[in-house]
Amino acid sequence: MNSIINNIEIIKAKTTKINDVDFDNLKFGHVFSDHMLECKFKDGEWQAPKVVPYQAINLDPSAKIFHYGQSVFEGMKAYKDTNENVWLFRPLENFKRLNISSKRLAIPELPENYFMDGLKTLLQVDNEWIPKKDGSSLYIRPFVFASGNGFHASPADEYTFIIACAPSGSYFSGKVRVLIEEKYSRSANGGVGFAKAGGNYAGQFYPTQLAIEKGYQQVIWTDDNTHEYIEEAGAMNIFVRINDTLITGPTSDRILDGITRKSIIQLAKAEGIPVEVRKLSVHEVVTAAKDGSLKEMFGAGTAAVISPIAGFGYKGEDFDLPEFEDTYASSLKKRITDIQTNKAKDPFGWRL
Ligand code: COI
Repeated sequence: MNSIINNIEIIKAKTTKINDVDFDNLKFGHVFSDHMLECKFKDGEWQAPKVVPYQAINLDPSAKIFHYGQSVFEGMKAYKDTNENVWLFRPLENFKRLNISSKRLAIPELPENYFMDGLKTLLQVDNEWIPKKDGSSLYIRPFVFASGNGFHASPADEYTFIIACAPSGSYFSGKVRVLIEEKYSRSANGGVGFAKAGGNYAGQFYPTQLAIEKGYQQVIWTDDNTHEYIEEAGAMNIFVRINDTLITGPTSDRILDGITRKSIIQLAKAEGIPVEVRKLSVHEVVTAAKDGSLKEMFGAGTAAVISPIAGFGYKGEDFDLPEFEDTYASSLKKRITDIQTNKAKDPFGWRL
């Protein structure tokens, strides 16, 4: 039966796919909930968003997304606590960043209520799809793309905003080995590295394939100018622990302003961990690996949460990180996921 919640029209799916899903063995981003939010931009404004059945998108072959790559996205998660209350983590940060990305790609910015009310309505309709199991969540993928037509290389006149959801388990299985990149670049000054633009990810796939062939799962991107400084890993920001100090690179034109990244910085400082946000050279990391002061490396992101790095490769040499208990990665992961899933107090006001 169709209805309206929060002033948003809901067109219900005729059947549900939920009984086909094994919620005990969820992969990441593999199955999708019954509904999605859809909102079109045309005639110079965003039209009213609607919740509709999850479905394929009908596009003209000349749609500008295919030719000029005008597309941005976000990654968020919804969590269910033991009382079945639903929680989001800093959702306004995702909304703001989506518009920052859109602006850079000449995509019209979305009104906040379309994003927030649309998201909340979708989560009410697909509430049953939010996993209850520890370590699982409903991964939420808001995205905007140029659905307007024409081969002229200029911004489209029509756009589509969609929020699709996938009940998901962890992004990585086990520890990750990474390759520090010496040749390819993910981003450059004045470019779009800070934006969550689809093309930023496409550009990483080939160098990442090369790294996978060598036995690594991810590339650690270095600055495009000298390849001497650690930047990020593409699917996550990077933290390095040398002795007791946690270090991560500063955000810039080239590095995504990760919401998990900035939460980790705040959490670690609140826990009394010395934190430095500064340029971190590959030389410093390699030297620390050699003299034993490199204790941990981990990635941080919405999908990855906090993913410990087991080792890294650089210039043909392989380095292993020490294995020990009570790592910063494990304590910070517990702190952040306890806040996200309402197992702990949220002194920062992040949970919504
Ligand atoms: C996220 O962490 O949500 C992202 O968008 C990264 C993506 C590569 C899965």
